Amino acid sequence: VADTPTLKSVVPFPVGAAINIKLLRKHQGYRNKIISQYNSITAENAMKFGKLHPSEDVFRWADADELVNFARTNGMRIHGHTLIWSAKNPKWVDAYKGDKKAWKKLLKTHIQTVVKHFKGRVKSWDVVNEAFEDNGKLKKCVWLENIGPEYLELAFQYAHEADPKALLFFNDYGQEYGGRKMEAILKMVKDFKARKIPIHGLGLQMHVVVRMSDNGLAKGIRMAASTGLLVHVSELEISVRYKKPKVFQMDDELANLQAHKYKTVFEAFRSIPKKQQFGITTWNVGDADAFRNGPYKNKNHDHPMLFDMYYRAKPAYYAIINAM
Ligand code: XIL
Repeated sequence: VADTPTLKSVVPFPVGAAINIKLLRKHQGYRNKIISQYNSITAENAMKFGKLHPSEDVFRWADADELVNFARTNGMRIHGHTLIWSAKNPKWVDAYKGDKKAWKKLLKTHIQTVVKHFKGRVKSWDVVNEAFEDNGKLKKCVWLENIGPEYLELAFQYAHEADPKALLFFNDYGQEYGGRKMEAILKMVKDFKARKIPIHGLGLQMHVVVRMSDNGLAKGIRMAASTGLLVHVSELEISVRYKKPKVFQMDDELANLQAHKYKTVFEAFRSIPKKQQFGITTWNVGDADAFRNGPYKNKNHDHPMLFDMYYRAKPAYYAIINAM
């Protein structure tokens, strides 16, 4: 009997998914799907600031360590997400009182404690997540307010000091279209390179929708590759949603359109230089656990993933298998 093709057996670059630790423990179908399909994982939440560092003097490693061990046991890479994020800090950070020096210390302590804890086990990190507005300005956040724009380069420097071998990524959304946000990111990369600030990769989240043009889907990937850095499509999901209808049914036409868009992204990614292909990670695994289904509180709404509500492969899955 011929082996059934799986994503990791046919895709010529690392292919991953964002993993929910609670589901991984209790849902055997979910767990098996991950083991059989992917060779890379990202913690959906377990490595975020508030989870690892819930109060100033407390670090909690258990969940993240469990994920790291899961990855190791199953021969997968685990990508670290995320050391710093403009949004969703734990309450104690948002409420923190201190001068610039104290804030820098907080930034450094968090980054270095986390990076050192996982050193040698987690070899790549999203160092900063979502720093820019769509218009290219830096997003307002506690880091910008208390440290200034310098927080970006400091974060990369601190991470590099803690683990000089780690691959350091800047991750964001909405730059897929090119546009001012992408321009701002390219400018930052150029500046970092000129001043020898360590940065090794760009993460394009790509929470996109099926109505995006093929060209549009490929453009951001090409622009990111133009930096010469590693490129990670880090949070891919392709929602079938059009105009926020309240009740929404998936149909064959949409499933095929979605399949075509997934294929387009995977092919665009395959066409950048091999040595820059860090991989494609989907956010998450099936429509049942997809982050995107949340906002409308309608579990059948966006259908953004490669597997359906019951973890059955969708046309998008087969389109990738056939195209690779
Ligand atoms: C999301 C998770 O999927 C949710 O479970 C959580 O409640 C909020 O964060 N961009 C990112 C990810 O960089 O970390 C986000 O993950 C989705 C958007």
